[in-house]
Amino acid sequence: MNAVIIGAGTMGGGIAADLANAGWTVHLLDQTVALAEAGKRRVEQSSPPLLYVPELAGRILPGCAEELSVCADANWVIEAIAEKLALKQALLSRLESAVGPETLVTSNTSGLSLTAMSEHCGQAFRQRFFGTHFFNPPRYLKLVEVIPTPVTSRAVLKDFITRLEAQTNHRVVVARDTPGFISTRLWITHLLDTIHTAIEQDVPVEVVDALTGPALGRPRSATFRMADLVGLDIIASIAKNQYESLPDDPLRERLRLPEPLERLIAEGRTGQKVGAGFYQRVGREILALDWQTLTYRPRQEENTTPGKELVATILPRFFGYVEAIADEISDSEDAIDNAMCWGFGWQKGPFAMARRAPDPPVTPALHAYEGALVFELRGKLNVFDPALCAAVLEAVSQAEARGCPLIFTGQGSCFSAGYNLARLVTAMERADLEAIEADMKQCQETFLRVKHATIPTVAAIHGYTLGAGCELALHCGRIVASPETVLGLPECAVGVIPCGGGVKEALFRFGTAQAAFEAIAFNQNSTSAHDAKQRGWLRESDVIVRNADRLLAEARVAAGLPVPVLTQPPTHAGLLALPASLTGQDRVIAEQLAWVLTGGPTDEATILERERAAFRVLAQEPSSIARMRYLLDTGKTLKN
Ligand code: NAI
Repeated sequence: MNAVIIGAGTMGGGIAADLANAGWTVHLLDQTVALAEAGKRRVEQSSPPLLYVPELAGRILPGCAEELSVCADANWVIEAIAEKLALKQALLSRLESAVGPETLVTSNTSGLSLTAMSEHCGQAFRQRFFGTHFFNPPRYLKLVEVIPTPVTSRAVLKDFITRLEAQTNHRVVVARDTPGFISTRLWITHLLDTIHTAIEQDVPVEVVDALTGPALGRPRSATFRMADLVGLDIIASIAKNQYESLPDDPLRERLRLPEPLERLIAEGRTGQKVGAGFYQRVGREILALDWQTLTYRPRQEENTTPGKELVATILPRFFGYVEAIADEISDSEDAIDNAMCWGFGWQKGPFAMARRAPDPPVTPALHAYEGALVFELRGKLNVFDPALCAAVLEAVSQAEARGCPLIFTGQGSCFSAGYNLARLVTAMERADLEAIEADMKQCQETFLRVKHATIPTVAAIHGYTLGAGCELALHCGRIVASPETVLGLPECAVGVIPCGGGVKEALFRFGTAQAAFEAIAFNQNSTSAHDAKQRGWLRESDVIVRNADRLLAEARVAAGLPVPVLTQPPTHAGLLALPASLTGQDRVIAEQLAWVLTGGPTDEATILERERAAFRVLAQEPSSIARMRYLLDTGKTLKN
């Protein structure tokens, strides 16, 4: 498939990376070739990375938009130039004579009318024209709002949505051609209403963020942090556009900027891009705006008491607003909820929140799916402990009794972050070696049982698949991975080595003790599933799905494929020379890891014994205990 993107700025570059990730060839055009090349460079240097692996940049071909001949053969042309109606109209007129008869043309506008944009074009062109509103950064936000005009062919639209959802990591919400569509309309109104309310109730900015972020199931970049990130000038222009084009909006007056926000913009304090907005960065410290003086002061987010009233004010007003305009902007409540969840990373959309939809259950569950059994890891980060291991064992027995494949998945944002470290460190601090040995042995036996099960086993993984989570996956016959997968064995960073058969399986996967050593000792976790394949965590026979929402379906297909022939580990792994860069506790841990990999026979049972013996040694090391405790207390790793 091939696409042309016009406008190599923030969004054009991001979408180009996104389509390159999906295996497309992308012509990225701008006003000059130099501007297009600069856009491509920004993609290559982006952090967090927009490409799954750097090599995919080869699929992005910069060019000049003065010359539109590449559009004749394109399947899809995406307009991503500046948000100016007249500019976009002029470009569409040029495109009309440049594209092929089957080429789709879409605009990435975040709020302009698609009907107005295309009104000067002919009928045939308009049937293949609509809005595709991607979110920034496209790799990490799965929503694409699709906005048809009254002339857009419904058959063309349906086919496009099916293909986009099958070939990329995106999900589509269809919105009506009204100002701001679903996402921007709701987001900007809710944001400005929250800002007005904070000022009226005199609630400090950091307290508002503490109350409207994870506490409401939304990302950390909540109200004011988010505003700084987007840019206060951009917010003002969206709000103005919406105010002018929506004379009957029930919360229209809230779209007027409050005075402090106007002053910040007038003084050039437009947010993160200039270092000051609602927050100001001074060296390593981040200060918060004081409502009275509009100067900055230290943050005090622990005390949320002054903001208790705020949430009780803004949420009911938001729910009422959504209810009032739902029919105007969309044809279903689900579309509205999905737009807010997929576009802004909310856990629940407004309708689900208003209904008080229950939180997902926390005990692991086994359920039937298309002739397979699916075991879903659940709980906080789906971490392993003896109860979860026992449930996995039971699942294997049940699947064998029924003679059906067994698929492992994780609930929520990850497959599993590993073993329960709080449990482990408590035993380590008490020097309770018996308890540690029992836990680790059970973990090894559980994963070994999965590996030697008589039925096909598949790990359907996404997000963090670390430590014991990674070990379970490595023991399955096949791994089916979502594109955004962080796979690896980072145990050394918390003072120990993998002890659920992870070192053993790394030897199988990487083929040599040296490669397995480097992957574990240097914490070489993958940054995407493609990266995991390049590094060797995933085998050729493992599958990377294009759309994470199809993970289970693809895992079911993979469960029916012939079981891959596994390579054996080297019979004698040979001695390792430890790199001089490993010092302090890193070296102590690395010596144990090297011994597990090379210190004797390489049959499964013997390597597992060495894993446990090395783990016992490290579990008694004060520096290792300190590493684990530090991670639990601070969320950061300790170098000692
Ligand atoms: P940008 O300013 O980063 O990039 C626009 C690019 O278009 C520039 O490189 C410019 O040189 C180029 N350009 C302008 N006129 C051109 C023309 N006639 N021919 C070829 N190239 C031309 O803008 P950004 O942020 O990428 O926005 C692009 C579109 O995406 C806008 O419609 C915006 O509203 C929309 N959008 C932006 C989002 C964001 O977060 N930045 C999110 C969603 C949509």
